[in-house]
Amino acid sequence: MIETRDLTKMYGDLYALDRLTLRLEKGDVYGFIGPNGAGKTTTMRILATLLNPTWGEATVCGYSIYNGSKDIRRVMGYMPDFFGVYDDMKVTEYLEFFAAAYRIKGAERRKKCEQVLELVDLSYKRDALVTSLSRGMTQRLGLARVLLHEPQVLLLDEPASGLDPRARIEMYELLKELRNMGKTILVSSHILPELAKVCNKIGIIERGKLLFDGDVESAKRQILQRTILKVMVGDGRNLEAKQHLEAHSTVEKIEHNAEDDVLLVTLRDGNHDGSFVADTLVQKGFRLKMLREEEVNLEDVFMGITKGITN
Ligand SMILES: Nc1ncnc2c1ncn2[C@@H]1O[C@H](COP(=O)(O)OP(=O)(O)OP(=O)(O)O)[C@@H](O)[C@H]1O
Ligand SMILES: [Mg+2]
Repeated sequence: MIETRDLTKMYGDLYALDRLTLRLEKGDVYGFIGPNGAGKTTTMRILATLLNPTWGEATVCGYSIYNGSKDIRRVMGYMPDFFGVYDDMKVTEYLEFFAAAYRIKGAERRKKCEQVLELVDLSYKRDALVTSLSRGMTQRLGLARVLLHEPQVLLLDEPASGLDPRARIEMYELLKELRNMGKTILVSSHILPELAKVCNKIGIIERGKLLFDGDVESAKRQILQRTILKVMVGDGRNLEAKQHLEAHSTVEKIEHNAEDDVLLVTLRDGNHDGSFVADTLVQKGFRLKMLREEEVNLEDVFMGITKGITN
């Protein structure tokens, strides 16, 4: 549904995008992750046919960005990171304005506007002025606007940025709904853990280069070569327990996190079975209060991958 090959964009001698090759199949929700200035917006603007690459090829639903921009705009909805809203316009007027631009007419237009408002949960604000909406509502309205023409492909540039935690979750819930409708979605963010729940694939981009491209699980595995266990014993004997465990050949190192008073036990590569920790401690008469595998989230994946490649 979306394909790029060696997509490159230069500004002077800066590579904003450096031979980016991506592929999204139908129904993919692809999390496009990268720090500021990585090239996420540049990629989206090129796919949305608003910006020409310096070289490289890109297609959306089989249409080339070079000669298929009309078709691409028909099948694609692009939600930019910032979009203007219009003073003195009511929510419904705002949507009808865009629906008219998409040549949706008459009764159909009203129906479509109501449908998208319903979808983003803003029906109760239909008569409010757009300038009176909160940031979260404005983002949802922006999403409603790009759904009007029922695009198969969505490009969403940081849809959750600037939102409070609840609004972020609601935005991601909304993305799940769109995923369930079968849309193909490219969504960018610098904040990662939420993306893991919505996306089936992720790409990590830094300075125009794609550092990782693959499914979420394999990204985790790449980082999860070593297992870290969180361990806590009672009676203030964590440091004592540390000494006993350090003697074990499976243990690579142990850190004591003084703040939470837990031990972080790193197992040697390839070892994933931490049951010896419980055996050892119980045998030595410790009261084991906690033993669990540290969960790896996308944040760790991201830090691990970017650090691994740039250093
Ligand atoms: N019009 C422009 N002229 C010159 N350089 C530009 C222009 N637009 C973008 N750049 C540069 O291209 C690089 C990629 O920018 P881009 O906006 O794509 O990053 P981004 O990943 O979207 O970052 P952010 O997370 O901050 O939104 C940056 O180094 C930026 O400074
Ligand atoms: Mg950006």
